[in-house]
This record gives sequence, C-alpha cells and structure tokens, in this order.
Amino acid sequence: MQTPKVTIVIFGATGDLAKRKLFPSIYKLYQNGKIDEDFAVVGLARRPWTNDVFRDNVKASLDQEVSTDENVDKFISHFYYHSFDVTETDSYNNLHGLLEELEGTYQTSGNRIFYLAMAPEYFGSIAKNLQSHGLKNSPGWTRLVIEKPFGHDLESAKELNNEIRVAFDEEQIYRIDHYLGKEMVQNIEVIRFANGIFEHLWNNRFISNIQVTSSEKLGVEERARYYDHSGAARDMVQNHMLQMVALLAMEPPINLSTDEIRSEKVRALRSLRMIEKEQVQDYFVRGQYGSGHLDGQELRSYREEADELAQSNTETFVAGKVMIDNYRWAGVPFYIRTGKRMAEKCTKIVVEFKDIPMNLYYKEEPKKHPNLLVINIQPNEGITLYLNAKKAGAGSIAQPIQLSYTNNGIDGINTPEAYEKLLYDCMIGDTTNFTHWDEVAYSWRFIDSILSGWAATEADFPNYASGSMGPKAAHELLEKDGFHWWQISEEE
Ligand code: BG6
Repeated sequence: MQTPKVTIVIFGATGDLAKRKLFPSIYKLYQNGKIDEDFAVVGLARRPWTNDVFRDNVKASLDQEVSTDENVDKFISHFYYHSFDVTETDSYNNLHGLLEELEGTYQTSGNRIFYLAMAPEYFGSIAKNLQSHGLKNSPGWTRLVIEKPFGHDLESAKELNNEIRVAFDEEQIYRIDHYLGKEMVQNIEVIRFANGIFEHLWNNRFISNIQVTSSEKLGVEERARYYDHSGAARDMVQNHMLQMVALLAMEPPINLSTDEIRSEKVRALRSLRMIEKEQVQDYFVRGQYGSGHLDGQELRSYREEADELAQSNTETFVAGKVMIDNYRWAGVPFYIRTGKRMAEKCTKIVVEFKDIPMNLYYKEEPKKHPNLLVINIQPNEGITLYLNAKKAGAGSIAQPIQLSYTNNGIDGINTPEAYEKLLYDCMIGDTTNFTHWDEVAYSWRFIDSILSGWAATEADFPNYASGSMGPKAAHELLEKDGFHWWQISEEE
C-alpha cells in the first residue's frame, strides 16, 4: 500500500498528549516507512512559539519517549508551529494560508488530518470554524480526530455530536479510544472467531463469568481539574472497558468490513442491561483511594492530591457486574474493574469456564482450577489457557498446567504502540478501530443509568487504600455470586 501523503494539524500541540503520544507515534511511523517523505505537521496552540522552539520541543519529547536515529533532524524539519486562538477568525484564515503553502512544498495532495488534542469544550466550535473558513475545501480528503471525553453524559454527547456533524460527516470523524489500538484488544476478535475450541464454548452454556480488569498504579497526577469532573466511570468505563466488553460479547461479523464489525459491537452494547436507580448497589461499586503504600512509597489520598479535591466525592475506582441480555449471554456476568492507585498496572481479561460436575483427580491441595482463558492486554501481551493434567509420576492425580503464548516471547515482535496504529489507520481511512457515534451513544446510556443511581446516594469515601486492589465491596460483588476475582500474576 502506498504510504499516505498528509498534513497533520494538531490542536493543542504544546499539551501532554502531543508530547507523550502523538510526536513519538508520528516519528515511529516515519522510521518504519509508514509515512511518506511528503508530510507536514502543523502544531497549534496559544503560546507565541517559533518553528524552531516547537521543533526543539518535539525533539525533546522524542528523546524522552523513543530511541531516535540520525534521521531525527530531517524528521523535525517537517514540523511547523502556528500560534492560534481557537475562537479567532484570523487564526483560521492564517492557518488556511499556511496549509496551502505547505501543500505546495510537500505535495501532500491536500490531504488533511485535524487532530483535536485539547479541551473538549472547543471541539464543536473548532469543527464549525474549520468548515466556515474553508479549511475543509482542499483537493484531497479531510478527517477530524477527536480525543475523549466525548461528552459528559448522553445529552451532552448528543449536543457535541450534532455540532460536529454540521461540519463533518460520520465517515470523516475518527473518535479515538486508544484501547482499540492495543494489539491484544484487537486480538480478542481473532482469538474468539479463529478458534473453534473457543467459539463453540463462547456462550452461557460453558462460560460462568468473564472478568475484565484495568488497574493503574498512577493517581490523578496533574489532571485534577479534568479528572474530578469525570471520575472513573466516565474516564475508563464509558469507553475502554465497555469497548472490551463489546468485543468479548459481540456476535461473529459476516465479514471484516468496518460496518459489519461495528454493527455487531453496537448490538452488544444495545443489549447491556440498564441499571435501575434502586439497584445500583447490587451491580456497581465505586471507590476513592485513601492514603497508602505502593512500591515502598507512602502515598497521599485522592483528597490530599490538590486543594480543589479536599471535599471531592469523585470515584477513582469502579467495579461492576454488567449483564448482557441476549440469547448468548443471558445469566453470564461480565465483571469489570478499574481504578487508580491500585497494586499493579495491568489490563487483563479472564474468561472462566463452567466447571466439570465431579472432581475425581484432585485429592489434595492445590484445589482444582476451573479452566480459564486469560488474555493479557498489558504490560505483557499474550494468552494463557489454564488446564488440568496428570501429575507426572503420580497416580491419577491432576495438577493445574498452563499453555501460554506471549507476543514478544515467541515472535520477537515489538508491537506498535496504540497511537501509532490508530494514526496510521486514520491516514489510510480505516475507521474500524475508532468509535462510531452509535457506540458512544449506547455506552453513555448505560453509564447514565449508573451515575443517576449513584447521584441518589451518598458516597462513603475514601474507601480503599492506595496500593490495594480496591474496596472490600468489590470483592463481595463477586462473592455473593459464588465467584472471586482471579489474581493471576504475570509470572505464573
Ligand atoms: C485514559 C484515561 O483514557 O487511559 C487515563 O483518561 C488512564 O486516566 C489511561 O490513565 C490508561 O491508559 P493505559 O493505556 O495506560 O492503560
């Protein structure tokens, strides 16, 4: 495939996301020959920087995030800076001129990506201004990439969507969920649908429950303002967690086209059981971290992290029992769990298969494991299947064994970073791993049902220690159904 020729315009080019993810990803694409020499990056932000200052900053971020080679100076010469006020007409007019000039220099065929890596309150007006100032009228294609949060609830997401849709068609909008760029998240579909031994068992007759955990060691960091208005349900569950649930629960697509995969995901999200206000306690647990210890360090509570958090009742942890009311999944709980300041940084999926009716081979400890399929999303990437087999040399005594596949271990492949893949997909016009409006809408509908239940009751925070695996109630949530969270360490 021909490498794409493009100008990437980054709104919020002095921000954290640009530094930590976007510049390094564009560089990796360049190093790997996935981006044409004919490309330009235009950074926009308020600061009165020059091209040279911008390039120095890009270089500094590359030095920090990736290993660079002798081409790095040539690479950063493609970067341009334009001091920009998103509310000013002049800014858009000047940008128009700059883009036309660069398109002459770099032969990018007028292909433009507008990447909104900044505060969401401006998304709508930027989209409209791009339209009204003619920035979409180029001889090539134009695409809009939007970072989350996409709204605060269903209502605000609808408003935002309407504003953007005035200027851009759905096919031109790339709503990023970076989890969809992760190698092992993309692998869920393949593991499921390319293996008879899983696909035939992938239903309520053979699976007892599925657990999806995404835990982080980090606290709120420098993001108190954003995070305290968001909380874990909006920050992680509405998008990343529900996307993983959709991929685990969806029906097989009839082909691998974007539309077919998407419509199966949407059907799964449509089947989520809404949580009645009065029942929220039975299905969902919220938490906020208190002080504690992690990796030998003493840590402050969430409320102590910044002055404005002193009285906060924002959740930094969510555990939930998600039910999918359809033929395949009736009665099978999908337990999800995510939080900040937890004991480990880890995202994994555990599929627990129903046990056999009698245990003949385990006469002593260790107790029999049910069969588990563990999909390790990060930090390690791979799958492990937990089985039982005869203990060598012993009589009819079984022991648990594991069959493991590690992406890095076997193929020696360093899988590309999520952003790298998603940026490339955007350049080649593949929207499969971006979130369609329908997915956003059904996810918000579900989250709204939880949030309105929580709004009706008082939170009792803080309720878990930093460095733990969350509040006690998160364990009880499973125990009352006769299950427990599988703590499977990476080394096993
Ligand atoms: C982001 C959230 O979307 O995902 C952050 O806003 C969170 O709060 C991050 O830390 C986690 O991503 P990852 O890739 O580190 O698991």
